[in-house]
Amino acid sequence: MQKMEFVPLVLEENINNGFKKVFAVGEENVLLVKEEDKYYAVENSCGHFGMPLESGTINHGVIRCPSHAMRFDLQNGEVINNLYDDCHAIKVYKIAVADGWVGVEV
Ligand code: FES
Repeated sequence: MQKMEFVPLVLEENINNGFKKVFAVGEENVLLVKEEDKYYAVENSCGHFGMPLESGTINHGVIRCPSHAMRFDLQNGEVINNLYDDCHAIKVYKIAVADGWVGVEV
């Protein structure tokens, strides 16, 4: 099994609730979110047509894609409202906090 690597993204002291920002991690774009004192990290690509999720609205751990209103659970990436047959879950990343940095394990 491959060892996970911690990739620090932002200092924890710089993140407030409502934080939402995309980071390049290797070849992937990771959307880091803080809402209601919880961190989430998901791919910045909708499971429908792959549009960016960064401008989506977030409500109680659910992100709504601004393009066609699909909603995804930020905890596990699952589709909440399956409006389209061709929509799939989005990738989620494991959050880690180390030495004051919030990041993901990849
Ligand atoms: S691209 Fe997100 S709902 Fe269609």
